[in-house]
Formats: sequence, C-alpha cells, structure tokens
Amino acid sequence: MSAGDGTSGFCAARRRWLEGTVVCAGLLHVSLATGASPDPARQPPQKGDVLAFPPDRNGGRDIIASDLVAGAEPLLAYPRDPASGVLRARSRLNQILLLKGDPGALDRIAARHSLDGVLAFSGVCTHAACGVSSWRPETARLVCPCHGSEFDPAAHGTVTTGPAPRPLPILPLARQGEHFVVAGAFTGKVGVKKP
Ligand code: FES
Repeated sequence: MSAGDGTSGFCAARRRWLEGTVVCAGLLHVSLATGASPDPARQPPQKGDVLAFPPDRNGGRDIIASDLVAGAEPLLAYPRDPASGVLRARSRLNQILLLKGDPGALDRIAARHSLDGVLAFSGVCTHAACGVSSWRPETARLVCPCHGSEFDPAAHGTVTTGPAPRPLPILPLARQGEHFVVAGAFTGKVGVKKP
C-alpha cells in the first residue's frame, strides 16, 4: 500500500507509537540571552548519555538491548544524563527513534552507525519538523504523518517519498553493557535546515 492509496488506507497501514505520549513542546531553549545556565533537560544529546523511555513508557527506565525486536516498530527514546539522572525531554528536538534492523540489509552508512543492526534516528521530520511518529511495517519505513514523507532506516534514513529534503540524522551509539549510550552528535541538523 502506498501513501497515494487514500487517507484511510494510509492511516490503517501505519502504526503510531507516539499516541498517549506526552510530547514536550518548544524548541531548543537558548538561555545565553539571559545569562542563565542551560537547562539540562533541554540540552541536545551529550556524549555518554543513556537512552531511556519517555516518562509514560515503562516507567521511563533505561532501554536495554532486549527491548528491541528486529524488524519491529521503533522505540521512542530520550537521552538521559547518567550523572544527574535528568531526562533531556524538554526539547522535542531530542526525540530519538531506536530500532533494530537486519545487519545484512543495511547500506554502508547505516552499517557504520549501527550496533548489531541497532540504529538511532532523529524523530523530527526534516520537512517541517513534525514528529516522525508512524511506522509502515510492510515496507519498514518511518513515516511522518504531516505530509507523508517516508524514510528508509536501512538506507541511513534516506527519503523514499514525500517532500522531506534530507534524510533523518543518525545519532551515533555505543553499548555499555545492556544499555545504549550516545557516542557523538547527530550526523546532521535535526529538523528544518534553513537555507
Ligand atoms: S513535516 Fe514531515 S512531511 Fe512535512
């Protein structure tokens, strides 16, 4: 089924995983203007942050490897500062989609950023910054419901249909035991890129 099959079919074919989730509003806060310290809950992912569920999912606990099922819809995650325990969920730019694919099916770039097939993508659409909140299981595509852009995680988040101009940025990962930690900055600008 394609996005052109009609709205009802399109909606039926996808699964939404953001429903029921409290999505924090507001863009990344710039506190330098006031001289205040940056709010750690609004800071972008920092190296060493642990990936965790949102507060209303599984008690907001840290995500572990066994939470991920190959080929299943992504898990919504946020970075958490392991030192302070602060979940950086006050900026929706920090929404992360964590999924597990077939390592043999990943292209070169996706494979380079994956851990045994596990990849972390920005959950913010590169078209107009809506949440990429749906999953098309029959094609394993991440879907933005606002204007129908679809992204192929196995092809490092490449746009396969719709108006989004860029792939979803990837967040490099490392493993610490069963946990996933941030290994570096997103591979590109999260959300809309101004010309
Ligand atoms: S905001 Fe995602 S397709 Fe327009």
